Amino acid sequence: MEFHFSLNGINEIATRFWKMAGNTKVFAFHGEMGAGKTTFIHALCDAKGVKDIVGSPTFSIINEYVYNEYGTVKKIFHLDLYRLKDEEEAVQAGVEDCLYSGNTCLVEWPEKAPGIFPEDTLHIYIEVIDSANRKLRLDDKIN
Ligand SMILES: Nc1ncnc2c1ncn2[C@@H]1O[C@H](COP(=O)(O)OP(=O)(O)OP(=O)(O)O)[C@@H](O)[C@H]1O
Ligand SMILES: [Mg+2]
Repeated sequence: MEFHFSLNGINEIATRFWKMAGNTKVFAFHGEMGAGKTTFIHALCDAKGVKDIVGSPTFSIINEYVYNEYGTVKKIFHLDLYRLKDEEEAVQAGVEDCLYSGNTCLVEWPEKAPGIFPEDTLHIYIEVIDSANRKLRLDDKIN
């Protein structure tokens, strides 16, 4: 499945994304530097009603956001593995605990520690079309 979007349309795509996501908890966002992973993840958090998004998690590997769903407080982990070397470092940083916590996890640079992802991780590929437009591709397994 594929979506094209500009910043103008990003919120609508984020809403559609969540509708398709079903029960998926772990989302791995692939894409080169500047592709728009953080920007799209922030749009996903906005769509859930997260209020406390503070910038990019470039300086912290694990960011925790909260939102309210039907009166319950829910958590989203936003992880950026860029500065990690491998699975061992990821485990030491607490990444694995997040991935298996049952909370929603939105992960940038999953290539840094591919071996620790749950089997039912949904892989998402973001590509630059031009300065304003991006292509987002999902594994076919959601339907
Ligand atoms: N359609 C779009 N979707 C997302 N970002 C866009 C789009 N059009 C332009 N941009 C711009 O592209 C940049 C994307 O940066 P962002 O930090 O989201 O990338 P990233 O993939 O997280 O990079 P990194 O690997 O360094 O973390 C931002 O400056 C954003 O404003
Ligand atoms: Mg980023």
